[in-house]
Amino acid sequence: MKLFLDSAHLPHIEEIASWGVLEGLTTNPTLIAKEGGLDLKPHIQKICKLVKGPVSVEVTAEDAAGMIEQGREFAEYAENVMVKLPMTTEGLKACRTLSDDGIWVNMTLIFSANQALLAAKAGARFLSVFVGRLDDDGQDGMAVLGEVIQVVQSYSMEAEVLAASMRHPRHVTEAALLGADIATIPYEVFKKLPLHPKTDKGLADFLTDWKKVHEA
Ligand code: E4P
Repeated sequence: MKLFLDSAHLPHIEEIASWGVLEGLTTNPTLIAKEGGLDLKPHIQKICKLVKGPVSVEVTAEDAAGMIEQGREFAEYAENVMVKLPMTTEGLKACRTLSDDGIWVNMTLIFSANQALLAAKAGARFLSVFVGRLDDDGQDGMAVLGEVIQVVQSYSMEAEVLAASMRHPRHVTEAALLGADIATIPYEVFKKLPLHPKTDKGLADFLTDWKKVHEA
C-alpha cells in the first residue's frame, strides 16, 4: 500500500518527505484554504518538487465544462499533478474528457461501491473512498472500502483504490489488510505511525546498558 500525505502545509510536507517513505500527496479545497489566500499555482509547484509521486489538486468548478478547464490548467502546473474531481454526474463527464486527454484523475468523495464503479468506468485512476466520514455517520467505512476493493479486483480494473479520510493509525492498518492500493493520511496520524512505547523503552534500555560500560 502506497503512503500519501493529506496536506497542503509545506512544513508538514517537508517533514514527512524527509522520512523517505512518502509516495504521493492529496490536497482538497479545505486544506488549501487553511493555508490562507495563497496563489495556488506556485504553492502546488513547491509541493510537487517536494513530493516524488502524484499530487492531487481538486477543482472547485461545479459543472463539467468548468472542471475540465480547471483540470487542464492544473495539469500544466507540474508533471506529477493529478486532477481531483468530485463524484457527481458533472464530475463523471469531466473525468471521461480529462482521462481521454491523458490527464490522470483522482475521483474524490466516494462513499459507495456503485460510485466507485461509475468513476472507474469514467476513466478515473484513483478512487478515493472516505472511510472516516462514513464512520462519523455511524456507518462502516472499512466495509465500504472492502466492497470497492472487491469490485475493482473482480473485474481487474486499472483504477487504484485510495483509502481517504483516515482518522487514526488503526485505519491505516485495516486499509492495508484489506488490500487498498493507497492510503492518504493526515499529518497528525502520519506522525503516530512510527511510534510504539515498547520501541522507546527498548531503546532507552539499550542506551543505558551501553553507557554503563562505555561511560563508566
Ligand atoms: C482525500 O483526498 C481527502 O482530502 C481527505 O482524506 C479528507 O479527509 P477528512 O475527512 O479528514 O477531511
